[in-house]
Amino acid sequence: MLSALSLIDYLSVVDSRSATSVIQKLRPHVYVRGSDEKQSLQEEAAARTIGARIVTTEDIAFSSSQLINAHFDIYPPKTKAFLEMVKRTHTAADIIKELQGLARTKILVIGDTIIDQYHYSRPLGKSYKEPIVVHGFLRAESYAGGTLATANHIAALSETVSLVTILGKRQSFESFIRKKLRDTITPKFFYREGSGTIVKRRYIDEFTGYKLFQISFVNDEPIASGLEAHIYEYLAELLPNFEIVVVNDFGHGFLTKKLIRLITRKAKYLALNVQANSVNFGFNIVTKYPRADYVCIDNQEIRLATHDKYGDLDRLTKKIFKKLSASDIIVTKGPYGSLSYSKKHGMIEIPALTGRIVDRVGAGDALFSITVPCVWAQMDPTTVGFIGNVAASLKIATVGNKFPIDFAELTNYITRLLK
Ligand SMILES: Nc1ncnc2c1ncn2[C@@H]1O[C@H](COP(=O)(O)OP(=O)(O)O)[C@@H](O)[C@H]1O
Ligand SMILES: [Mg+2]
Repeated sequence: MLSALSLIDYLSVVDSRSATSVIQKLRPHVYVRGSDEKQSLQEEAAARTIGARIVTTEDIAFSSSQLINAHFDIYPPKTKAFLEMVKRTHTAADIIKELQGLARTKILVIGDTIIDQYHYSRPLGKSYKEPIVVHGFLRAESYAGGTLATANHIAALSETVSLVTILGKRQSFESFIRKKLRDTITPKFFYREGSGTIVKRRYIDEFTGYKLFQISFVNDEPIASGLEAHIYEYLAELLPNFEIVVVNDFGHGFLTKKLIRLITRKAKYLALNVQANSVNFGFNIVTKYPRADYVCIDNQEIRLATHDKYGDLDRLTKKIFKKLSASDIIVTKGPYGSLSYSKKHGMIEIPALTGRIVDRVGAGDALFSITVPCVWAQMDPTTVGFIGNVAASLKIATVGNKFPIDFAELTNYITRLLK
């Protein structure tokens, strides 16, 4: 582009971070540099030695993110107002520093393993004999989902994450799972007789990305009492060693009444997420747990837990908060962001931060995972809600649990939003 300007006769690319050697070779009459460039004493000295005049340009240093945030309406008014408010009291650098401070937290994650399969296909035509559309298979991808995804997300913040989960004895997918877990995670697998590891397979129309159908391979009966006794013994010894115990309960038979009682009694700090899904709808309710320190729940789950379809969400939030003797609760509201509540700070609304949706699977889990160590460390709840919604935004921009939340991505997004 520069060489296309008629003013410019000749230009050359300098393959060096410093202009010193070029100044010495070209011996220019004038050496011009940008105002935002760091002062380089060596370059200045080289220019002075050959008697060149040093000129600094008076252009304004700008950031493209700052320009986009200020001049393009990329966020809805609520989000814009929220980001302005955060900017007044926080800098991205401060938030990132706080997140870096969480690296040593010892965290135990307990919950169901799920393999998420995505089978992509293309419609061929109507079946000749039945009233159905037949699809042609294109390709399949598998991701580490359920509690594996939660452990992977948390490992973006903490270097010492342990995981306790169950796989099926046959078709365990163990080598796949080990490969997909981040290196810093220490897993302990228990094996369930007579069933395979849980698989949720979705059929996707390749062209539109629409999900056509899902088939779940799940045995959600409570685990056998022999296996339960083994896990009980193992957990009883393990639980007191961790600063945080995270339970990600998908209601697929692993977390029995007995194990729940043990965990709620022995965990120093319990972060809890109990999921509603098609397998367990209406049965897997957070109030199965007598207590938790931090509860993360979605809008539908809290209504199931309180048997209240239309009631005021603030009231229901306080109800569950009280029932579980929690010190913090976050209710996620899909496209409406999240609601945080604690005695000290009251209700805090955080708007959703993105409109870019590829796949909503695992959105709540990403928010839950990333906020756990933040809530535990008693970071300011507005910051925590902000970070959580950033994590959810990153998650829903990708398919399934293909990529766990990455620390650099998380902090880059935070920096960009606060420019
Ligand atoms: N349609 C959406 N638009 C923008 N953000 C969304 C949307 N759906 C989910 N999110 C983000 O993901 C978070 C969790 O989503 P939610 O649907 O409430 O949980 P879950 O996945 O557990 O059902 C929300 O708080 C929000 O930040
Ligand atoms: Mg959820």
